[in-house]
Amino acid sequence: MSAAEFETVDRVFAPDAVGRTVRLRGWVLRGRSSGGILFLLLRDRTGSVQVTGRRDQIGDATFDAVEHTQVEGALTVEGTVAEDRRAPGGREVRGSRFTVVHAGEPFPIFAEQTEEFRLDMRHLAIRSQEHVATFRVKAELLRACREFLDREEVLEMTPPILSGNAAEGGAEAFQIDYFGRPGYLSQTAQLYLEALLFPHERVYALTPSFRAEKSRTPRHLTEYLHLEVELAWCDLGGLMAFTERMIESVVRTVAERRPKELEQLGRPPAELLEVRAPFPRMRYADAIDRLAAQGFPVRFGSDLGTAEERALTIESRTPLFVTHYPRELKAFYMLRSPDDPRTVEATDLLAPEGYGEMVGGSCRETDVAALTERIRAMGADPAEYAWYLDLRRHGSVPHAGFGLGIERLLRWMLRREHIRETTPFPRTPARHTP
Ligand code: 4AD
Ligand code: MG
Repeated sequence: MSAAEFETVDRVFAPDAVGRTVRLRGWVLRGRSSGGILFLLLRDRTGSVQVTGRRDQIGDATFDAVEHTQVEGALTVEGTVAEDRRAPGGREVRGSRFTVVHAGEPFPIFAEQTEEFRLDMRHLAIRSQEHVATFRVKAELLRACREFLDREEVLEMTPPILSGNAAEGGAEAFQIDYFGRPGYLSQTAQLYLEALLFPHERVYALTPSFRAEKSRTPRHLTEYLHLEVELAWCDLGGLMAFTERMIESVVRTVAERRPKELEQLGRPPAELLEVRAPFPRMRYADAIDRLAAQGFPVRFGSDLGTAEERALTIESRTPLFVTHYPRELKAFYMLRSPDDPRTVEATDLLAPEGYGEMVGGSCRETDVAALTERIRAMGADPAEYAWYLDLRRHGSVPHAGFGLGIERLLRWMLRREHIRETTPFPRTPARHTP
């Protein structure tokens, strides 16, 4: 049987479908029989529909085979679409021909199992309605990001994942044995995007990043999807304007295209449509004053952790830019602020409702000597960054960029308690299987 011979479940609910013959194929969500009638809920990628089958019409052999098909078993059915008020959606398919493709074994996942067990069974658990909705939204978000970047004439690049440099500062990189030499899994594509910026001016990459931090928090993964943008001729104001335009656009697009899934996951799309640029900006120093006034033991130079970031946005429905962090807290490549040598031209975008950092961005240092000094200050050997320093020897121009954690953004958009719910096969310090 070829694909063309089959229709999808959504076809059953089309205005003109009643009375028509349809051929469907999919998986059994649940099934039962009573009084010589089978009742199945059949699911495919477009939805689910009730399918019935009568023993006196389909015969004993077929009836028994379908009756023994397990939850998540696969079958095809041909039948007539009929109105039925008792069926979900008000319609059912009265089956006349069934083929069991795979009866299956008893499905091991059901209600009231532990979270740990579900994580062990993730390869099967991802068939649940909640996961299906989540990954439909995620796919839509990725599409929206690419569409936005395309409209803005930012070109997609393919930087390497394996590297001889640990870009964000060695400590939290996964080290590998690269044929007897040290290699690292990418923590950021930034340095490569900076190289690619000179011929293309506006570039991005959507690649996995790896962080070897043993942070068991609801917002850390050891592997996450990183959307990184690098723009030539850009200052901090330009970078924030670009970032907020992108966030507003992709959040709106997802809210418009996936309202059903968002509702299902507990995020009314109307709340996302309220997210409008420009987003408020707050200097780090002012954030510190505000937090100190609230009783946090912080002063200029303190890092903003989960609790501090949470306090800054818990009441807010709009993201917040925090800018001008102390130089010591931030990466070596960030540009020193012209008006305050203690700070850098950097910004973190904090998600609303206390969800914390979802974007980190900055203007990049363009001067070889300043960069060399910063590399030494972090205890690294400038020779390891020779190629990166070279970029500042041939037409070095002002530029800026940011990295967005796709799962961080989704965690807020979908109101998930834990970031692992936004990725099908989460990688955390405790788990890298299945
Ligand atoms: O702030 P980060 O470390 O910045 C960079 O890597 C820059 N080089 C990016 C750039 O400018 N091109 O990471 C950027 C973002 C964070 O704001 C956060 O959203 C996400 O990446 N992120 C994580 N997401 C999930 N799990 C983790 N362990 C993450 N670490 C960072
Ligand atoms: Mg950061």
